[in-house]
Amino acid sequence: MPLLRSAFIALSTNKPLRRFSESSSLGRRLSSRFVAGLEIDDALRIAESLNNRGFLVSLDSLGESVTSEEEAQQSAGIYHLLLEEIKSRGLRANISVKLTQMGLELDPELAMKIAVGLTEHCRATGSFLRIDMEGSQLTQVTLDLVRHLNAREEFRGHIGIVIQAYLHRSEADIRQLIDEGIRVRLCKGAYQEPASVAFAKKQDTDINYVRLAGMLLASPIYHGLATHDEVMIEAAKSFAQHNNIGPESFEFQMLYGVRRDLQRRLLREGYNVRVYVPFGREWYPYFMRRLAERPANVLFLVRNFFRN
Ligand code: FDA
Repeated sequence: MPLLRSAFIALSTNKPLRRFSESSSLGRRLSSRFVAGLEIDDALRIAESLNNRGFLVSLDSLGESVTSEEEAQQSAGIYHLLLEEIKSRGLRANISVKLTQMGLELDPELAMKIAVGLTEHCRATGSFLRIDMEGSQLTQVTLDLVRHLNAREEFRGHIGIVIQAYLHRSEADIRQLIDEGIRVRLCKGAYQEPASVAFAKKQDTDINYVRLAGMLLASPIYHGLATHDEVMIEAAKSFAQHNNIGPESFEFQMLYGVRRDLQRRLLREGYNVRVYVPFGREWYPYFMRRLAERPANVLFLVRNFFRN
């Protein structure tokens, strides 16, 4: 299985396959299990329907590693539009953004300027900007940017970050983020990382996830636990129960189309559940990372494809 995981992660950066997949109707049909659609309206429609069923939502306009300032500004424009729509439709939704989509690798100043604009818009509309975490070469710069913004009084509570349990450094990062009052989404981590920075064994990542989730739950800040792993979820639930931490003081987060049964069950049990809803034309790298997490999804998709 680790071999298949690496193969899908390697394929996620394959440009010709990406060009072919994103422009073919077959590719789009297959990806629709995990991607809400190509257009903003598709995502908003799905967000509305998830809200009606009791779920919170985070909207993600797909795309990463832009190659010009113009592209970065276009990506930011989509998020500004989303924030307006979230407000005017009264959606219980926030936005998730990748800094490489905001030009981080071209010019960190540009990414900072765009992030400031988005956080300002979130503050004005009562929303929240979650900065996704990417590969480990970007961990420090991402943390620095979020900490810098959160240090501004008016932005507090409107910006948060993601921490990956597979990184050795995450415990220290979480300590500091809690000290600074920054909201964290904890996930296991979706990128291929060397053993020098990340746990090589899944079991070690899982142990770390449970430890970090405990630290977050015990803090007075509203955090998100992003996982579909029932062992992680049960550990978090039991930690919260033993420490009298009410279900209103944190949320579980899961990806659109993944473990929908579990999403519904947690909601029924009274937990806050946020569904991460990705949409857009640049769905290929995101989709391949989902296959990497569970190569059996390929069989699942193919079976459903022929059934429809
Ligand atoms: P794990 O991979 O161990 O899977 C546990 C079980 O969950 C599997 O046995 C299976 O049943 C189910 N499952 C997991 N993935 C599935 C899939 N794709 N299809 C079907 N079933 C699946 N990563 C990152 O590096 N940066 C980020 O910013 C984010 N953001 C983020 C937001 C949200 C809301 C979620 C849920 C996840 C992320 N991730 C992420 C991805 C995360 O790091 C991780 O790769 C996936 O969540 C898979 O890990 P699990 O914790 O689900 O456990």
